[in-house]
Amino acid sequence: MQSAKYYVTTPIYYVNDRPHIGHAYTTVLADVLARYHRLLGVPTWFLTGTDEHGQKVQRAAEKAGIAPQEHVDTQVAAFQELWKKLEITHDDFIRTTEPRHTQVVQQWLQTLYDAGEIYRDEYNGWYCVPDERFFAEEELIDGKCPECGRDVEQITEANYFFRMSRYQEWLVRHIEENPGFIQPDFRRNETLGFLRKPLKDLCISRPKSRLAWGIEMPFDPDFVTYVWFDALVNYVSAIGHLSDDETFAKWWPVSCHLIGKDILVTHTVYWPTFLKAMGVPMPECIFAHGWWLSGETKMGKSLGNVVNPMAMIDRCGVDAFRYFLLAAMSPGQDASFTEEAFVMRYNSDLANDLGNLVSRVLNLMVKNCDGAVPALQGNPLDGDEERELWALAQAAADGLEPALRAMTLDKEIAEVIAVVRAANRYMERRKPWLQAKEEDKEPLHITLYTVAEVLRVVAGLLHPVMPERMTALRASLGLPPDPPHVPDLKQFGLLEAGTPVIKPDALFPRIVIEESPVEEAVSKPTPPPPKPEVPSAEPVVGVIDYEDFSKVKLRTAKIMAAERVPKTSKLLKLEVMMGSERRQIVAGIAMHYEPEKLIGRTVVVVANLKPVTLRGIESQGMLLAATKGETMRLITVDGELSSGAEVK
Ligand code: ME8
Ligand code: MG
Repeated sequence: MQSAKYYVTTPIYYVNDRPHIGHAYTTVLADVLARYHRLLGVPTWFLTGTDEHGQKVQRAAEKAGIAPQEHVDTQVAAFQELWKKLEITHDDFIRTTEPRHTQVVQQWLQTLYDAGEIYRDEYNGWYCVPDERFFAEEELIDGKCPECGRDVEQITEANYFFRMSRYQEWLVRHIEENPGFIQPDFRRNETLGFLRKPLKDLCISRPKSRLAWGIEMPFDPDFVTYVWFDALVNYVSAIGHLSDDETFAKWWPVSCHLIGKDILVTHTVYWPTFLKAMGVPMPECIFAHGWWLSGETKMGKSLGNVVNPMAMIDRCGVDAFRYFLLAAMSPGQDASFTEEAFVMRYNSDLANDLGNLVSRVLNLMVKNCDGAVPALQGNPLDGDEERELWALAQAAADGLEPALRAMTLDKEIAEVIAVVRAANRYMERRKPWLQAKEEDKEPLHITLYTVAEVLRVVAGLLHPVMPERMTALRASLGLPPDPPHVPDLKQFGLLEAGTPVIKPDALFPRIVIEESPVEEAVSKPTPPPPKPEVPSAEPVVGVIDYEDFSKVKLRTAKIMAAERVPKTSKLLKLEVMMGSERRQIVAGIAMHYEPEKLIGRTVVVVANLKPVTLRGIESQGMLLAATKGETMRLITVDGELSSGAEVK
């Protein structure tokens, strides 16, 4: 068992940015951790929120010509919407503009001021607006911000300072004595390295003349507090610090502050010293994960290569996106996000390995066992192969808690997928489709029951990662919609004979690369002339002349015949008439249209595309269709018109 409670936080994100894959990652990871702990029966509290004060917000609001509060009220919706869409199960969402937060920040400031931990002094330094941080001259790299490399502004002014330097020795000792305090280990060493230089006192105020959008210093109305002093306090203000002692005592100290490596110093140096000065116990763990890169490069708004999670989800489904984030990054390391890597992993782990196993087993049960879990005469675990397969599933189940402690969820997921692969190999050896033809049905029943039990464990172990799809899988196995219990995953034989099973729709329909989203409805033409590279998830922009457009010959065509292409769920082979010309077209519309329903319809075809061969069938043109998310609609004509008519 884990400890008695689990309190996990994400950074509170700057509300003026659009949420992107990086924010999505931290939040999904925290969600998965929270969900696992809930499955383990550990009382869990999961906090996320938004950081709403500071220079950047003030400037963005000024630019938009609205009050800062109005600006943040609008902006916060993008985060809340995304978390809803991503199936995030946070227990609380804190905004730093809420009174429950600002009050605590002011109490901290007053307490520290009264205790002499905060003093006033003249300050001369360099300020990085995007990072909202001050640097001393010698910290700059080539005169630029040492964190982000952007320009800095020189500033001289009176300010208030927190006596952070006092805590240097104590902090080094605390980090050394508590190996779990900063994770992974190499990040811990990074902080210790930072602490080898003398720690300076921290400027924690901004004159209102320069920045008004912040929490006012309670002892000097000409100043607001520095955004990091404000923001970090969210982790305690949200759980009733100084207002609800019982709740605060229930959750604090935090089990895990999940952060990205970009905010290591603020969390592992500033925050512990603030807490120490206030006499609040230290966090149990601060875990800094790595960076999602776009291909090989850093992702950034200014680089125009930010992966937009909303677009990704619309195209591939929430659970597939969550799965990729969790499976493809070892927490701590950087990882690269490319569409290619996403599609490859999806197809191999989810569509092929897991999806096929599920559909094979359930189809066989529906066909040969009256659509129910088969009754057995003996115990499947008397068989060597069955015992071995079950042992593998058990090793994965036993690995869950250690993986949570070590934050190696990617390895845990890989182990579960390895179980799925072993189950597929078991099926290949047992050949239940042949066993079904035999008089004695016991061998068939043993095969199907054993794999169904393994799938029950797999669905349970992957439930926190893919809650929607794994609930669907559990429903197919006749299991109730409530989340699985971990102890049940360690027991064989809980599927009851006679329970009806449901043949699921494809759990993870294969993504066929030939039918990339833009060309989903169409046979893949020879590569189009090179277009300017646009980030994949952004809308395609660009203006063309009429002349360019007129090169595309569009014609109406009447569908005369339609049939499915064998061995793919996506393609239909169509026979169309374009005037007097007969054409054969392969179109990726089988997920959206029944072949019979298409016959007689007039559609729009690109008539001058070079033919291509798809699955061995020549395709002489492509259909036009509109797609949004999972939905696709063919472009047709509004009323009677003979085929072969020009469209322009
Ligand atoms: O720093 N890869 O907010 P922020 C992985 N408001 N994670 C990424 C990422 C990427 N490419 N980009 C961003 C702030 N993140 C402060 C925090 S907390 C008291 C105040 C994630 O909006 C990662 O978790 O800049 C990183 O730490 C966080 O977003 C920064 O979010
Ligand atoms: Mg940032």
